Amino acid sequence: MSTLAVYPGSFDPLTNGHVDIISRGARLFDRIIVAILVNAEKAPLFSMEERVEIARAVFHDQRNVEVDTFNGLLVDYVERRRAQVIVRGLRAVSDFEFEFQMALMNQRLKPTIDTVFMMPAEQYTYISSRLIKEVFTLGGRVHGLVPELVEQRLREKVVAKEG
Ligand code: PNS
Repeated sequence: MSTLAVYPGSFDPLTNGHVDIISRGARLFDRIIVAILVNAEKAPLFSMEERVEIARAVFHDQRNVEVDTFNGLLVDYVERRRAQVIVRGLRAVSDFEFEFQMALMNQRLKPTIDTVFMMPAEQYTYISSRLIKEVFTLGGRVHGLVPELVEQRLREKVVAKEG
């Protein structure tokens, strides 16, 4: 039986930490679905269409990585896709408490679905989408922390705002 994993999140924007986890997941599982939550935030920086387009472009040459969207309960989506595993990244101990709660809640809702935690490479452990947005908006450099396409799209947003 092949193992299908779902890596859920907001991905607003996709960071190199996410890319690292997805690449590791793609090596570990037969297939991994990057599942972008619809309407996670009221005012996202990137629209759902942009986030899907970016993730698809970044993984266009990885045949076992799929990009999809979902809404509603994560476990319902995982079941609908006939996946067995939820992948979540753990960067630091501070992530653990909330991730532990979510994993146990999801386990209670669907006991047959397991959550697998994966550690990103050390150099990505402090990156989060929230910090990327904040640093970039305030004029800081995010080069090397996000895929080049994300950096390019962030710059375009600034130009559009100024122009
Ligand atoms: O990018 P994030 O914010 O870390 O992702 C959080 C996400 C999308 C995994 C979580 O909010 C989620 O699963 N939302 C879907 C609704 C749901 O199933 N909630 C109960 C989780 S225990």
